Amino acid sequence: MSVYAPSLLCILLVLFTFRAVDGYYAQRYRQCYYTRDLVTIEFIYSWYFNKAEYLRYNSTTDRYTGYTVYGAKMAESLNLDPKNSLYSYVYTFCKYNKDNYASTVLKKVKPKVMVRSLTSDTDILPAILLCTVYDYHPKGIKVSWLRDGEVVTEGVSSTDELSDGDWFYQIHTYLEYTPRPGENISCMVQHESLTQPLISTWEPSLPLDQKNKLIIGIFLLVLGMVLAIAGFLYYMLRCKGLVAKQTSQTISLERTTSEISQSSQSSQNSQTALQTSTP
Ligand SMILES: *[C@@H]1O[C@H](CO)[C@@H](O)[C@H](O)[C@H]1NC(C)=O
Ligand SMILES: *[C@@H]1O[C@H](CO)[C@@H](O)[C@H](O)[C@H]1NC(C)=O
Repeated sequence: MSVYAPSLLCILLVLFTFRAVDGYYAQRYRQCYYTRDLVTIEFIYSWYFNKAEYLRYNSTTDRYTGYTVYGAKMAESLNLDPKNSLYSYVYTFCKYNKDNYASTVLKKVKPKVMVRSLTSDTDILPAILLCTVYDYHPKGIKVSWLRDGEVVTEGVSSTDELSDGDWFYQIHTYLEYTPRPGENISCMVQHESLTQPLISTWEPSLPLDQKNKLIIGIFLLVLGMVLAIAGFLYYMLRCKGLVAKQTSQTISLERTTSEISQSSQSSQNSQTALQTSTP
């Protein structure tokens, strides 16, 4: 636990608000600040007018402090009489509520982690990865980037731990880097809710426009292959047809020559027939 920022837990328990008819605004806040171990408690009582704090009681000093001329006058007179001390609130108010709410305060919730790329086109260098760590409790987390198992220090930036306003926190950590093929980039999260670091490895998936390009490319490749095969088949068929035509032409040529010789023979015959008929 002590590894992480020993921030104070603050529970705002009671809030008095007075609103006057003419639009002025007065508030009083009772706040309890607890150290992480809930042992040390500080009670603070603040008076506000139109959002400006003019008077504050602090249990650590057991004194009132004024922040305006009027507040300073009030603080001065309140500090004169020990009966005005609000120190007992540390026990009657802060400790009492701590015992009631400690189970909620001490609850640890594991973070959820999401790693994604912020650069859609891989042609643009360097690339930016975002590791979002969210819905964890309490505050105090360590997020680092690993490149092939080694902690990266260059090109790393991060937001603060942001409160969701419902006990949960979130943090966003960026990595700017030049991709190398086959490398392993992971986001490592260390938090008191985890027994060991939570490592999420970045899995690049092709961006949408690149996916579309790939689909179009495959389509054109298939189309090209179909056309090539069709062309080849057409060529083959055409060759066969030519050979067939040529053979039939030779056959018909042969036939005509034989017909011619046959007819010349018959004309010779008729001549002889003529010769024999003339005496
Ligand atoms: C209360 O007083 C202590 C001692 O001076 C100081 O450290 C602390 O910050 C004060 N708390 C607030 C909320 O002003
Ligand atoms: C990538 O590195 C992390 C941390 O070094 C490791 O846990 C994970 O198994 C590795 N993944 C691959 C696919 O090598």
